[in-house]
Amino acid sequence: MKHFLNLIDLTADELSHLLTEAARLKDAQARRIPSHSLSGRVVGLVFEKPSLRTRVSFESGVAQLGGTSLYLPGNEVGLGWRESLADFSRTISNYVDALVLRVYRHETLDGIAGTGSIPIINGLSDWSHPCQGLADILTVRELFGTETGRTIVFVGDGNNVARSLAVGCGRLGMRFVLACPIGYGFDDRFKSQYTAQVSPDFPREVNDPIAAVKGADVIYTDVWTSMGQEAEREERLRRFESFQVNGELLAKAPSHCKVLHCLPAHRGEEITDDVMDGAACAAFQQAGNRLHAQKAVLEWLLK
Ligand code: CP
Ligand code: NVA
Repeated sequence: MKHFLNLIDLTADELSHLLTEAARLKDAQARRIPSHSLSGRVVGLVFEKPSLRTRVSFESGVAQLGGTSLYLPGNEVGLGWRESLADFSRTISNYVDALVLRVYRHETLDGIAGTGSIPIINGLSDWSHPCQGLADILTVRELFGTETGRTIVFVGDGNNVARSLAVGCGRLGMRFVLACPIGYGFDDRFKSQYTAQVSPDFPREVNDPIAAVKGADVIYTDVWTSMGQEAEREERLRRFESFQVNGELLAKAPSHCKVLHCLPAHRGEEITDDVMDGAACAAFQQAGNRLHAQKAVLEWLLK
């Protein structure tokens, strides 16, 4: 049984295959070539947290591949509290062919994947966001012709999005640098996982964003306060103040440098309007690529 829970579970060949397939599916969609690859299949979506991109791109992607999707709000399903994770997954395995879940605790995904009999897709957890990471690298490939050898400087929190992208970069021959305030970098658990399963060269962590972006092909940012961390918001606003991606910071990067953001953007916090709406920003192309990347994942798991 294959799942899509973390990019670290995939080999470089598998990741490359998904990127090639995503590009093919994007082209087919642009040409309006009909697909029936998911005909008769039902994909469930259980979301404990809000979403625009993940939910809508999965629902549209399933429809474009000839399948059906079913949205289930997390508070209705009650993962782990209305019934046990094992009882939930053994039951829902009878009804749907795959399940996309957005959860607070990554352990919830492991509990469901380990007890059901259908593929599980991580639609974001506190630990990782592999669908985002795949779409991010697809976007880098489109922007530069190849992702190999490119340097991504992630300016912000060493969070779920940063971990997935760092792993994708490590697998596919890209450099990843994390520019963050002291105390907001990658933790030891990620470090030992990465060095054991991806590469002994762990991504560099720096605390000076200006020095970091000097070698950047891409500056990447994400919200400073992720969903589930709302109680830390005031403290984080203070600690990340000098890590804003603004025109001044972008001017320190090479002139070809692009800006990515997984969105939603908190304009005026981690990124300013001039950068979001400027020529270097490819965040909406990146958001569009969620659709194509996830269609490749669905076919990989279900075809
Ligand atoms: N980037 C992302 O996952 O967006 P949503 O939270 O809107 O799904
Ligand atoms: N790091 C953010 C990503 C949102 C898509 C969060 O987890 O809220």
